Amino acid sequence: MLTSLSELPGRKAHGPKLAVLTAYDYPAARMLDDAGVDLILVGDSLGMVVLGLPDTTGVTMEMMIHHTSAVCRGVKRAAVIADLPFASYRTPEEAVLHSKRLIECGASAVKLEGGVAMIPQVRAIIDAGIPFVGHIGMLPQSVKEEGGYKKKGKTSEQIERLIADAQALDQAGAVAIVLESIVPDVATQITRQIKASTIGIGAGSGTDGQVLVTPDLLGSFPWFRPPFAKPHADVAGETQRAVREYIAEVQGALS
Ligand code: KIV
Repeated sequence: MLTSLSELPGRKAHGPKLAVLTAYDYPAARMLDDAGVDLILVGDSLGMVVLGLPDTTGVTMEMMIHHTSAVCRGVKRAAVIADLPFASYRTPEEAVLHSKRLIECGASAVKLEGGVAMIPQVRAIIDAGIPFVGHIGMLPQSVKEEGGYKKKGKTSEQIERLIADAQALDQAGAVAIVLESIVPDVATQITRQIKASTIGIGAGSGTDGQVLVTPDLLGSFPWFRPPFAKPHADVAGETQRAVREYIAEVQGALS
């Protein structure tokens, strides 16, 4: 189990693969940390799976600060990565200001979406001494411009762009890069070409690690689950069973 981001290069070279999960609150973070997950991501998926928003573009810095603080209170060992939300890194100065606020909450690193176009922001964050995690491929914060959640790496133009994005982030000093919804062969190729650890989601098994949105793993958000996410529990079913049992008990059916 990972105890510091400085162990990432060793894990890329020698394994085992990184097991990464999202958390949005204190009890989940404490359980994931105790269970030995390598990294905990306070993802802006928060907006969809906790706050009931239609996509991640409604997530604000105030929401991220609130939830990152709660997660960090529950974690003793794992490094916590916090997402910079939509429109919080339009300039390098804004990116650094908001990254510092998330680090003050207890995060060890910050993540933002984008590659070559974001290099000035990425350099500014790293120059400010803040460990940085990239995110390329399908970018949920761009869902409106893109007109949906689409797999990347299907055309030679997309493959070239993904490789250029990954190399630019790697050269800028990213410690890790999330590869989201990328054709598996392309994700594997990127993983072999860069020093940073790759963390895949819907990108096949050739990356240095995997990340899942924890409610998808636990089956606690039954209304939508991406096809690549294999649930390992049915928390929604068990919650409803317990609630129905409680209702019956209160209403006397079991007395
Ligand atoms: O917001 C999030 O949970 C993420 C993961 C999907 C990687 O960015």
